[in-house]
Amino acid sequence: MDVLVTGRLPDDVLALIQKEHSVEINLHDRPMDRERIISGITDKAGILCMITDRIDREVLDKAHHLKIISNFGVGFDNIDVQAATERGIPVTNTPDILTDTTADLTFALILASGRRVVEGDKYTRAGKFKYWAPLLFLGHEVTGKTLGIVGMGRIGRAVAKRASGFDMKVIYTKRKRLGKSEEKALNIEYVNFETLLKESDFVSLHVPLLPETRNLIGENELKLMKSSSFLINTSRGPVVNESDLVNALKNKTIKGAGLDVYENEPELTPGLIELDNVVLLPHMGSGTVETRKKMALMAAENLLSGLNGKTPPNCLNCDKLAN
Ligand code: DGY
Repeated sequence: MDVLVTGRLPDDVLALIQKEHSVEINLHDRPMDRERIISGITDKAGILCMITDRIDREVLDKAHHLKIISNFGVGFDNIDVQAATERGIPVTNTPDILTDTTADLTFALILASGRRVVEGDKYTRAGKFKYWAPLLFLGHEVTGKTLGIVGMGRIGRAVAKRASGFDMKVIYTKRKRLGKSEEKALNIEYVNFETLLKESDFVSLHVPLLPETRNLIGENELKLMKSSSFLINTSRGPVVNESDLVNALKNKTIKGAGLDVYENEPELTPGLIELDNVVLLPHMGSGTVETRKKMALMAAENLLSGLNGKTPPNCLNCDKLAN
């Protein structure tokens, strides 16, 4: 069968797909052109797509033979799952395997923003480090501080575990509160959103992008945060209103931020790059050699299983598809 793969995969994983199917692949490091996806999908039985591809009704209307949509990523806000379900097409993602990797990067951002790691690096490279001084590059302690986690799913929990190694108090908010025994095991305390914003030294976002989480953090929420606090986002960019964040960072409404994702990715809101109190990364939360390999393999296995007419593992809508 014919398959569309919209981004590069490790050779051995690609070979696994090519063993059974004929593959049209985008070998560039930039996303496949939307027009190419729309024209390419017409005769394809499967698509292994990237989180940067918008697989919406316009694309699906051209997909006359599609049996499976396999997303390379855990977040699937790029896919209109409802539209795929209406057409009887299974959609899969790559959960679990990137949880620790993304939690590690979240902590890297907490430490980098709190301890001014990037500013210090720039200063040293610029040849400005002439002598040690007691007040040089003072950051903010991470150990013992309060971490507020918004969204206590897999990644939120993995971040909470790491925080315990830093003796942090962890408070969280979530649509559906966890059970008491789980809260106790993770040593976390449930609070409402407003309390979390007011009490946290670091606010870390771990919610999926949904209509109700779009711009969850804007001017009002930033105003509730302490002027000494930091905002960390490794979830999805549009969860934060980026212009409001730029204003808050400029006006010192909050102390700083660490971002791996952007509202109009890969574009940055004007003003963001001029600011020293924000650490900016290129959406690399799951970006380790080990994890990206596992993601590629999982996405390929999901794809192959759908092409073979089986219920694919990690299916997001199989329970809603007619048998
Ligand atoms: C995901 O999987 O959703 C990440 O954002 C990309 O690795």
